Amino acid sequence: MGSKPRSLSGIKPTGTPHLGNYLGMIKPAILLQETHETFYFIADYHALTSVRDPEQLRENTYDLTAVFAALGMDFENHAFFRQSDIPEVTELTWILSCITSKGLMERAHAYKDAMAKDQEVSMGLFSYPVLMACDILIYDSNFVPVGQDQRQHLEITRDLAIRFNHLYGEAFVIPEAIIEKEVATIPGLDGRKMSKSYGNVIPLLAPEKQFRKAVMKITTDSKSVDEPKDPETCSVFALYKCFAGKKEQEALAEQYLAGGLGYGEAKQLCFETLNAELKGPREIYQQIRNDKTKLNGILESGRDKARVIARDVIDRVRDKVGL
Ligand code: ADP
Ligand code: TRP
Repeated sequence: MGSKPRSLSGIKPTGTPHLGNYLGMIKPAILLQETHETFYFIADYHALTSVRDPEQLRENTYDLTAVFAALGMDFENHAFFRQSDIPEVTELTWILSCITSKGLMERAHAYKDAMAKDQEVSMGLFSYPVLMACDILIYDSNFVPVGQDQRQHLEITRDLAIRFNHLYGEAFVIPEAIIEKEVATIPGLDGRKMSKSYGNVIPLLAPEKQFRKAVMKITTDSKSVDEPKDPETCSVFALYKCFAGKKEQEALAEQYLAGGLGYGEAKQLCFETLNAELKGPREIYQQIRNDKTKLNGILESGRDKARVIARDVIDRVRDKVGL
């Protein structure tokens, strides 16, 4: 850790991680370990806006820790921790809330969606973007790898940091989002964005049989085997593309356009290609998922690394505002 730029991201423990999480956030985040100092955390405070079962929240947290371990996160040289283990984050949230306009929060997507659906809006959901901004700013983060759906939250974070720096003098590093263009939004089984809240996910490290079953359930149009098919609008192809090399992608696209390839066959090829990448991680995941001592050790060592930075930043901010 030290002179490299710092990359930070978070993921909510709200259910089983899926292929959208993997391609949009987990995989790019882990790859950044090569060139960046990385801080990744489990956004359990954010999950409280929707999860009401304490046991479920704890288990989801262990689940994500095991997933990151299985996919090659290097816990020795980087930090992986629980958001709620760093109390400085909530302290900063209050301070930033005091310079956040209500109007800015009213323009946030999650709040607008909830209002449009006539759902009850808690104060936690309403101020969700302020907490997220603090997650990022409290570690002097330079880069934030996330999926496309988080772009607005990053813009809000930058706005708040710039506003604070303007009002009180330089205190925050202004972070930048890293969004993988190719995989910006992964479609789910029904063609909509893959999301835990739509119940249309392909679980990332589920047992092989269950994983294959999910891939085989991807919705396609009803073209017969002989008809030419459009790879650009097909969810099976969209997923395949994220795992296959350029040549393989071109070969499958040609088969789609030529006709003679059934969706069943395309799905089987898609399953085999995805499985080749995920088989190894799945085995490691199964070995460590129930080793709570190991998983707690990972989270504690991450907490200790993250807290040193958070303390430093909160001291700087307290001083700036006069506390
Ligand atoms: P979900 O929508 O399933 O609740 P989260 O909101 O917990 O997922 O997202 C965690 C991370 O995964 C975020 O960085 C998000 O942008 C990314 N992500 C989630 N779903 C997708 C998707 N379908 N395609 C690409 N990235 C995604
Ligand atoms: N809001 C993000 C999501 O729904 C999770 C998150 C919380 C996050 N805090 C963050 C992501 C800070 C990046 C940086 O996926």
